[in-house]
Amino acid sequence: MFEVNESLSPSQISAQAAQESRAEARRLRRPLRVALFGFGTVGSSVARILVESRPAGLELTHIFNRNVARKRVDWVPASVTWSEDADAVLAADVDIVVELAGGLDPAGGWVRRALGAGKSVVTANKKLIAFQGVELERLAASGGGHLKYGAAVAGGIPVIPGLEQGLAGDRIERIEGILNGTCNFILSKMEEGSEYAPVLAEAQAKGFAEADPTEDVGGFDARAKLAILMRLALRVSVNPEEIVPQPITAITAVDFSYARDLGCTIRQVARAERAGGKVAATVGPTLVALRSPLAWSRGTENMVIFTGHYGGDVVFSGHGAGGHPTAVAVVSDLLALAHGSRRVELPSTPAEVGAEFEVPHYIRFLVKDRPGIVADITGALAREHINIRAIVQTPGYPEHALPFVVTVEPCKSSVLKRALKSIPGKDYLLEEPLDLQILE
Ligand SMILES: NC(=O)c1ccc[n+]([C@@H]2O[C@H](COP(=O)([O-])OP(=O)(O)OC[C@H]3O[C@@H](n4cnc5c(N)ncnc54)[C@H](OP(=O)(O)O)[C@@H]3O)[C@@H](O)[C@H]2O)c1
Repeated sequence: MFEVNESLSPSQISAQAAQESRAEARRLRRPLRVALFGFGTVGSSVARILVESRPAGLELTHIFNRNVARKRVDWVPASVTWSEDADAVLAADVDIVVELAGGLDPAGGWVRRALGAGKSVVTANKKLIAFQGVELERLAASGGGHLKYGAAVAGGIPVIPGLEQGLAGDRIERIEGILNGTCNFILSKMEEGSEYAPVLAEAQAKGFAEADPTEDVGGFDARAKLAILMRLALRVSVNPEEIVPQPITAITAVDFSYARDLGCTIRQVARAERAGGKVAATVGPTLVALRSPLAWSRGTENMVIFTGHYGGDVVFSGHGAGGHPTAVAVVSDLLALAHGSRRVELPSTPAEVGAEFEVPHYIRFLVKDRPGIVADITGALAREHINIRAIVQTPGYPEHALPFVVTVEPCKSSVLKRALKSIPGKDYLLEEPLDLQILE
């Protein structure tokens, strides 16, 4: 038993109790007690690894889920308590809460209560860490517990531990990544000649895409992960909502055909760079050169390239999602806690996403053909001092729905947008021009 200091508040007392319990576990060499919150794709894989591999220093003691009866499986030992009462599990004698339910609420509340009570928390919840990570880190520090979220970005690829350990000594200047497996599956399939809708349906049938795919195809999932990487790599904390994502939904097979003519393919790329006191960050479908490592990543794979001031480029790639790969990252975090390994502190300062990349652009028009269209477009670009690099039109498309592409020299997206808005007449435009950045 630990001694209660009567001048402490109830939450300080429970934090003190949790610290004593962890210290006692280390003294007695008893395993740390682990409570799993959420027994879905990742949660059940984490349980499977803990039960089958019995990693030293860890013991699964509780599994919490709503309507828990339908979740019970016979391979979990009888010693584990199944519960649908979050309060009871949070109040139980556990050292680590593993949050794998997802979303901001109620998961955020459970995490805050566990950290406030001095317990450690491991989570794969990118949304929670992107929006509330700074506050939760502070809470962990004041409660004496630890917060680990190695699985929150790129699932099974050790990008976060790689940053915290292997790259902490560098000054990272740029991040470029494929952070969403669903988009990568869709775009790398479209590269082979398919259209968006049937590939999305295939991704949904294979369980790679949700019934409502907006989080993924709209770029919201990737921007949450980018915000986390920006904090750890560029050391800036940004509001993820300041990164305005471009969805992949407007990409067609025609764009892949034109991209190939330009020596490129299309991937959903999340990137960020420091620019003076501000940072530039974007998420969206982007032309990448066929020789770039980003073009090699196919299917549900993820890839992240960090450019360090001293160490140059470092590439991480592999399976970014899925129950087992993600569970490996969660169990690795648990093992780090069990072995008392300390995290390298990577303090960040608040920053605005205010800067813009100055990059070449690909603009695809779909028009009802008539004379003077190219003159209208080049005139609008010239008025904004945007230099044209190439005009590409492949024969064989019908005149009533003719796609052609203009590529331009590096310019800011806001300036290009203004130029495209000012194209006169526009009655020949069958849809808004598609503007994609080109990554060189
Ligand atoms: N799946 C991946 O590949 C992957 C990769 C990286 C990170 N992650 C992250 O890992 C976390 C878990 O993802 P997942 O794919 O395992 O999700 P999932 O399959 O939907 O599992 C979530 C589990 O939590 C339970 N749950 C959700 N809300 C609850 C609530 N309010 N009360 C009680 N139980 C609740 C769900 O119960 P029901 O069955 O009743 O819904 C389900 O069993 C998420 O934060 C996700 O972003 C997932």
